[in-house]
Amino acid sequence: MKKLIGLKKLRTAIFISGTGSNLKNLINFSLKQKSPIKIVLIISSNKGAKGLYFAKKYKIKSKTYKYINKIISEKKILKDLAKKQIQLVCLAGFMKVLSKNFIKIFNGKILNIHPSLLPKYKGLNTHKRVLANKDKFTGCTVHLVNSKLDSGKIILQKKIKVNKNDNIKSLGRKVLKQEHLLYPKAIKKLFTNF
Ligand code: GRF
Repeated sequence: MKKLIGLKKLRTAIFISGTGSNLKNLINFSLKQKSPIKIVLIISSNKGAKGLYFAKKYKIKSKTYKYINKIISEKKILKDLAKKQIQLVCLAGFMKVLSKNFIKIFNGKILNIHPSLLPKYKGLNTHKRVLANKDKFTGCTVHLVNSKLDSGKIILQKKIKVNKNDNIKSLGRKVLKQEHLLYPKAIKKLFTNF
């Protein structure tokens, strides 16, 4: 991916389905002077997503799609992205798998954050599986999105120690805290020279 040249910020869309803590964190990051991104659109696959509150709060345009038909929903989303001249898509707890066609159109410009040390534990329930396997470490990963689930090029990872008394909740909290540091770091790594 090309480094950002000059002071223009990348027009970015964030895709969510739930709480939106990564969304909130990315909005705060984007508002920093030196941030390479400007968030201009939020797409949700769930009209009850708590994260939509941040769209309102920060006056960012949001759209919700029920995803009853994936092809039709994606077609509409692609139109929204074109209208807003989106250059980067950041998935942040987006619970739908993007089609090959969508990924091809936005090739190399879709990022995702995943709560495990990929390639370990792709998919859901990562913390549960880490604990069941008695792993000593877990973590989070920011990666490019390709046509296989949680399999694109890794941009950054953070390793986190699993303690003996950790449970799904405590691990989730620890990992999420690190996700909030990692996602902006990965964006800076890709798009700025500092
Ligand atoms: C995060 O753990 C992220 O890694 C995963 O979904 C969760 C989203 O959390 N893909 P939030 O909605 O950003 O709080």
